[in-house]
Amino acid sequence: MTILLQVNGVDHALEIADENMPLLWVVRDILNLKGTKFGCGKAACGACTLHVDGEAVRSCSYAVKFAMNKKITTIEGLGNEQNPHPVQKAWVEHVVPQCGYCQPGFMMATAALLSKNPNPSDEEIDKNIINVCRCATYYRMRKAIHRAGELTRENLTNETTSS
Ligand code: FES
Ligand code: FES
Repeated sequence: MTILLQVNGVDHALEIADENMPLLWVVRDILNLKGTKFGCGKAACGACTLHVDGEAVRSCSYAVKFAMNKKITTIEGLGNEQNPHPVQKAWVEHVVPQCGYCQPGFMMATAALLSKNPNPSDEEIDKNIINVCRCATYYRMRKAIHRAGELTRENLTNETTSS
């Protein structure tokens, strides 16, 4: 069947043999966007997190048919060197990654959280950011999430004062 998707702002019409194929395989193997990672394949670790219409989704367990006509954002579309997302800036400031494998998923989960709540408490972070990092970067990650929230709030203030 033909699946229509918008991925990182680009429209795609993809011929997919099985509409139940996980979105992760479409992103990685068909669109060749390798930033979204495979970890557990069971919606347990969060390595495969991306956004579907702004919501954090574990794409290893999300059939591509559910993404039909929706906007997908992967880590490659979160920001860029010229215009990094606050999460990316904060991650660099706090030198969060160790091996790096889990980090795109954490960053996408954090970006989705901050889009709804730019000032999360530690409890809200614990409740919402439930990905797994085998290198145990959680301590730096928490600091970076708070910093990303600060940067997000600054951006929101700047947008309000300039409009
Ligand atoms: S690979 Fe999807 S949650 Fe672990
Ligand atoms: S940085 Fe290595 S698994 Fe998280």
